[in-house]
Amino acid sequence: MAKITVVGAGNVGATCANVLAVREIASEVVLLDIKEGFAEGKVLDIFQTSTLMDFDTKITGVTNDYAATADSDVVVITSGLPRKPGMTREELIGVNAGIVKSVVEQILKFSPKAIILIVSNPMDPMTYLALKSTGLPKNQVFGMGGALDSSRFKCYLSKALNVNINEVEGMVIGGHGDTTMIPLTRLATYKGIPVSQFADADTLNKVAADTMVGGATLTGLLGTSAWMAPGAAAAYVCESILRDQKKVITSCVFLEGEYGQNDICIGVPAVIGRNGVEKVLEIELNEEEKALFEKSAAAVRATNNVLTEIGVL
Ligand code: LAC
Repeated sequence: MAKITVVGAGNVGATCANVLAVREIASEVVLLDIKEGFAEGKVLDIFQTSTLMDFDTKITGVTNDYAATADSDVVVITSGLPRKPGMTREELIGVNAGIVKSVVEQILKFSPKAIILIVSNPMDPMTYLALKSTGLPKNQVFGMGGALDSSRFKCYLSKALNVNINEVEGMVIGGHGDTTMIPLTRLATYKGIPVSQFADADTLNKVAADTMVGGATLTGLLGTSAWMAPGAAAAYVCESILRDQKKVITSCVFLEGEYGQNDICIGVPAVIGRNGVEKVLEIELNEEEKALFEKSAAAVRATNNVLTEIGVL
């Protein structure tokens, strides 16, 4: 039976662990944090919902005890600082890069075969760092951003169209940043029919704009980063891995020629199964979308360069 470790017991990590446990996505969930007693506390709280929520997932909280994470099938990395109101995800790089790099090193000592899912921000450069610093194959290390951004896109779409949230489809590609993400409005559908048949261009442009600042809007409202949807989105990706669902989930993956890009981790639709990233789907973009993707990749690349400047890569 499967074991998942979630590193970082902050809001996002604890929510992810909670969803994994309640939905019995793994038989065992380990939550690890650097702060003494913190993961233990979060886990005790989740454990005490077992009979109320009807689950019996084994869940353990540990302080920096990487031995307890041994032989994990999947490891979700949420470590690092969240953003404060007015901050971009990119501004976190100086602090979070060192943390993510050392966490990945420790994890691999005990779970060399684990699929590693990066959630820490700025997520695209953190995924690139984790991949490059370990030299692991590209299917084994990828980032969660598109699952969350696409989920937000569908929420705004369903509200604008005033329809059932589960009857709209849409995806967000590109970087996981306020100005780098690309909601693919042209390809979004309601019951398989293009959304342009149900809403005018202004409405759809507003949906795209709201989606792009989806995280920032919540940071403004909450005073810190969102966690319910980010945690659930990470758990959703874990489920596709462990149950080998092979769902198409926009994920931050290493590109080697796809979408005209090389040596970058950025959001594209990918088939996610037991081997992690099993396939990148190359969908046909129009000229405008291609230009946006190139711009997004250039911005992600600029942030990746900071990793070399600060000496972590
Ligand atoms: C967000 C942060 C977690 O988008 O990146 O809410």
